[in-house]
Amino acid sequence: MNSYKLLTIMVAALWVFAASPLGAQPDNIVFDPLKTFGKSKRSGVTLHHNRHVEAGLSCKDCHHIYENGKNVLDESTLEEGNQGIRCSTCHGPKFRIGLKQAFHDQCIGCHTKFQKERKKTGPRYCGQCHVKK
Ligand code: HEC
Ligand code: HEC
Ligand code: HEC
Ligand code: HEC
Repeated sequence: MNSYKLLTIMVAALWVFAASPLGAQPDNIVFDPLKTFGKSKRSGVTLHHNRHVEAGLSCKDCHHIYENGKNVLDESTLEEGNQGIRCSTCHGPKFRIGLKQAFHDQCIGCHTKFQKERKKTGPRYCGQCHVKK
C-alpha cells in the first residue's frame, strides 16, 4: 500500500471516528465526590460510559434539556468540556432535584426499571457502585 492510500484511509477512519457519537464521548467517567460534592462519604463511582451506549441506550436517555416537559437536547452539543451538559450545572443546591438525587434517581431508577422488565441491567446496591478500593 502506498503512503497516499494509507493516509486517505487514516483520514477516513479519523473522520468516521469523529462523526460517530461514540467518538464524542469519554469511555469511562470516574467521579470524584470531593470535586462534585466538596465532601466524600462514599468512594467515587466509575461510569462505564461507552458500555452503556453499547448496551443500546441513547444519549438522551441520560442527557437532557427540558422545554415544556420535552427533552430538546441537541446531541451535537454533547462534547467533552461543555459545562452546560454537566449534571451539576442545573442540579445545584437550589434545584428541586439536588445533585446526589439526580445521579441516584437516574442510575438506580433505570437499573431498577430494567430489572423489572427482565432486561440486562446494572447494580442497585450501594457497594456495587461505590466500590471500596
Ligand atoms: C447511562 C447514561 C448516559 C448515557 C447513555 C450517555 N451519557 Fe454521557 N454522561 C453521562 C453522565 C452521568 C456524565 C457525567 C456528567 C457530569 O459530570 O456531570 C456524562 C458525561 C458526558 C460527557 C463529558 C462531559 C464532560 O466534559 O465532562 C460527554 C461528552 C458525553 N457524556 C457525551 C455523551 C454522548 C455523545 C452520548 C451518546 C452517544 C452519551 N453521553 C450517553 C451519562 C450518560
Ligand atoms: C440544562 C439543565 C439540566 C442538566 C444539564 C441536567 N438536568 Fe436533569 N433535569 C433538569 C430539569 C429542568 C428537570 C425536570 C425537573 C422537573 O420535572 O421539574 C430534570 C430532571 C431530572 C431527573 C428526573 C427524571 C427526569 O428525567 O425527568 C433526573 C433523575 C435528572 N434530571 C438527572 C440528571 C442527570 C444525572 C444529569 C447529568 C447527566 C442531568 N439531570 C442534567 C435539568 C437538567
Ligand atoms: C437508561 C438506563 C441506565 C442508566 C440511566 C444507567 N445505567 Fe448503568 N446499566 C444499564 C444497563 C442496561 C447496564 C448493563 C450493561 C451491560 O451489562 O453491558 C448497566 C450496567 C451498569 C454497571 C455494571 C457494568 C459496568 O459497566 O461496570 C454499572 C457499574 C453501572 N451500570 C453504573 C451506572 C451509573 C453509575 C449510572 C449513573 C451515572 C448508570 N449506570 C446509569 C442501564 C443504565
Ligand atoms: C447505580 C449506582 C449507584 C448506587 C447503587 C448508589 N449510588 Fe451513591 N452515587 C452514585 C453516583 C454516580 C454518585 C455521584 C458521583 C460520585 O460522587 O461518585 C453518587 C453519590 C453519592 C453520595 C455523595 C458523594 C459522597 O461520596 O459523599 C453519597 C453519600 C452516596 N452516593 C451514597 C450512596 C448510598 C448510601 C447508596 C445505597 C443506598 C448509594 N449511594 C447507591 C451512584 C450510585
